Amino acid sequence: EKDGFDWFMRKEIYEQPKAIGDTLLGRYDTDGALRLDELRMSEAELRRIDKIIIVACGTAFYAGLVAKYAIEHWTRIACEVELAHEFRYRDPIVNPNTLVVCISQSGETADSLMAVRHAAEQGAKVLAICNTNGSTIPRESDAVIYTHAGPEIGVASTKGFTTQLVACYLLGLYLAQVRGTLFGDEIARLMAELEEMPATLQRVLDESEPVLKLAGDFAEQPSVLFLGRHVGYPVALEGALKLKELAYIHAEGFAAGELKHGPIALVDDGLPVFVVVPPKGRDMLHDKVVSNIAEIRARGALTVVLAEEDDPEIEPLADVWIRLPKVSTLLQPVLATVPLQLFACELATRKGHDVDQPRNLAKSVTVE
Ligand code: BG6
Repeated sequence: EKDGFDWFMRKEIYEQPKAIGDTLLGRYDTDGALRLDELRMSEAELRRIDKIIIVACGTAFYAGLVAKYAIEHWTRIACEVELAHEFRYRDPIVNPNTLVVCISQSGETADSLMAVRHAAEQGAKVLAICNTNGSTIPRESDAVIYTHAGPEIGVASTKGFTTQLVACYLLGLYLAQVRGTLFGDEIARLMAELEEMPATLQRVLDESEPVLKLAGDFAEQPSVLFLGRHVGYPVALEGALKLKELAYIHAEGFAAGELKHGPIALVDDGLPVFVVVPPKGRDMLHDKVVSNIAEIRARGALTVVLAEEDDPEIEPLADVWIRLPKVSTLLQPVLATVPLQLFACELATRKGHDVDQPRNLAKSVTVE
């Protein structure tokens, strides 16, 4: 059932355009209103929320980190993101006006389930973003958004992650609609971009040859760094996690702004560094990351830059330029993550590892 692919993971990477399309299906009316029918929470309840806490583990946690930027920007509701097992064992400030959002592909991760119970006991409303119909976490939650990505077999999450991102965007835009924090035409513009996303992502997949070739060149590298700012930061963390999980290579993701506060000491001749560059916009984000690239190149780093395809500043700074289609900054993680998934999958394949069943890992960890 791998449809001619060598691994379920690779198949699932290539399924992402369709999976994202399925997450979006039926959410947006022709009359310009977002609808989350399966949500099970009233608009009155959604208007009462004064804080959101996202809890998750692993890759799902990184989806939560991206969601924070979008949700706070669109809704002006304070949003925290916490590892489920950390949330569970401290004394978080939670009350009936808190919305706890648990993101879990499987819906069975014990750490995440315990966080859901911990939140519910304190009277919080709990919303699950989940891929598995009828699994425990959505059953124990007040509300649910299913990602509809189809079964994910590869242990390392791929379409699970990108559809979680899309579900988080839908939640953020829906809250913005209900609470009136975004104009209708702004929601419509973002929804149009999301609805274009399957086609946009397909282009990224069709042009993935350079990243596959790169995996061949990097097979002997002992260590790889990933840098990003803003929503590119969780993408960097996810890129590093994929390499650890699949290729068993030491990899770390950093916030680019943190570089000078420590990690730059690691940069030495020939060290490969992936950098996620935000689209050029009205803010300073893009230029800040571009100057970070110059700083690491000056110290000998080999730079693999994920940046917009028509960005004139990238050519002289990139040893390898992975070109991304133009999208809004907040949506870029959907595109930027996919070459990193492919890179890790390909590198692990070349090293002869079992990509679908990495050592020591389980698809869903049902013990604490
Ligand atoms: C880990 C998996 O154990 O659980 C990761 O290996 C996954 O791939 C994490 O991201 C969380 O899983 P879930 O099902 O709760 O999203």
